Amino acid sequence: MRLSVIGCGYLGAVHAAAMASIGHDVIGIDVDPRRIESLTRGEAPFFEPGLQDLLTEGLQYGRLRFSTDVANAAGAAVHFIGVGTPQQPGGDAADLTFVNAAVDSLLPHLSEGDVVAGKSTVPVGTAAELAPRVSAAGATLVWNPEFLREGWAVQDTIDPDRLVAGVPSGRDGERAAELLKDVYRPAVDKGTPFIVTDYATAELVKVAANAFLATKISFINAMAEIAEVTGADVTQLADAIGHDVRIGRRFLGAGIGFGGGCLPKDIRAFAARAEELGRGESVNFLREVDAINLRRRDRAVELVVEGLGGSVYGKKVAVLGAAFKPHSDDVRDSPALDVAVRLNGLGANVVVTDPQAIENARRLHPQLTYEADRDETIRDADAVVLVTEWDEYRRELTPDHASTLTDGRVVVDGRNGLEASAWRAAGWQYYGMGRP
Ligand code: UDX
Repeated sequence: MRLSVIGCGYLGAVHAAAMASIGHDVIGIDVDPRRIESLTRGEAPFFEPGLQDLLTEGLQYGRLRFSTDVANAAGAAVHFIGVGTPQQPGGDAADLTFVNAAVDSLLPHLSEGDVVAGKSTVPVGTAAELAPRVSAAGATLVWNPEFLREGWAVQDTIDPDRLVAGVPSGRDGERAAELLKDVYRPAVDKGTPFIVTDYATAELVKVAANAFLATKISFINAMAEIAEVTGADVTQLADAIGHDVRIGRRFLGAGIGFGGGCLPKDIRAFAARAEELGRGESVNFLREVDAINLRRRDRAVELVVEGLGGSVYGKKVAVLGAAFKPHSDDVRDSPALDVAVRLNGLGANVVVTDPQAIENARRLHPQLTYEADRDETIRDADAVVLVTEWDEYRRELTPDHASTLTDGRVVVDGRNGLEASAWRAAGWQYYGMGRP
């Protein structure tokens, strides 16, 4: 099928490349000429495992093209909208400027019977508001939320857990759902659940999923806070409750909490939208989820201060990680980078390393010192702080090796990823999050 993808950021670029890889003829559109140039050269504009290969392959076989001109979307049967919906400056609600602009720019190029499929995460009610404009152009709007995780985006797009299509009632909606099913044919034929809903449900599925995940993380982090005053170990607690299949162990990793381009802004936008709807109280707990999450960054900083005897001033602190999670170069709302910035503000000589995110981190926080080499980062550090659980730090760094690099013997494990007993046995003072 001929498809267009409007917006070539994390979501759109991966979607375009993934759709080409399953056999579609795809044009990706973005207003940023630098991004389009880089994609046209076959260079992924950000680090995402597997994306580079799909780009090369799609461009080589001529199934994938990129353009800054939205007129080139004409002729596609399905037009995906994958632009950003960031947090509004000075508020919690989502900024829909890019979604509105994308839809408006597309309208003159739509043909009778086209489907416009919104993938961006939007406040509930957005699709219903956009639909009349799309219908007036003879096309049908569907909402087809994306659940991809950074670092696994390619796999999540080609082989998702489930597909959701919010469609209008009647024949147009049924037809649009069938067309979308054809787009995702390989996954559908494999038995991936394809759930057809109304607009509001589809929009809510996305924010509800992210709200649930954020709540799960903050729940275990709240338990970590209790563990800290009782001497309990939150990692054992998580293992034990995680064996209950109704609870499950995934997303019960206590530490410095969640960040990134989705969870923080999505729960805030959800709470803001609920307030607009007069139901603020229904999701008031999300404010608490947010607050618990942010407190954990303070806690990590506190542990470094404590480990260094009450002050970090003038001490070298090696910060392992800048990305908001491993397998990503994304530093948007990164708890790791936030911890580094706070320590720097307290007068520590902070040196940050990360296998992928240094460039992005430097752009955002040029005041910090960056070092590409892990061992150089640790050399002569008074304290080592693990904040993003890359394998290079969590699995491959042994306490014995670290001991050869520095005489400092303080390690703060912001992700509970290190083996506490091994570090202690090697003479280190080990501080975990919610662990004795
Ligand atoms: C998330 C959702 O998982 C995805 O479905 C949605 O489409 C977009 O938002 P992503 O932002 O890529 O994806 O990251 P995710 O893997 O969910 O991790 C989010 C944050 O939570 C990271 O900062 C991670 O370090 C943190 N986290 C995750 C924890 O602190 N503990 C955990 O147990 C799991």
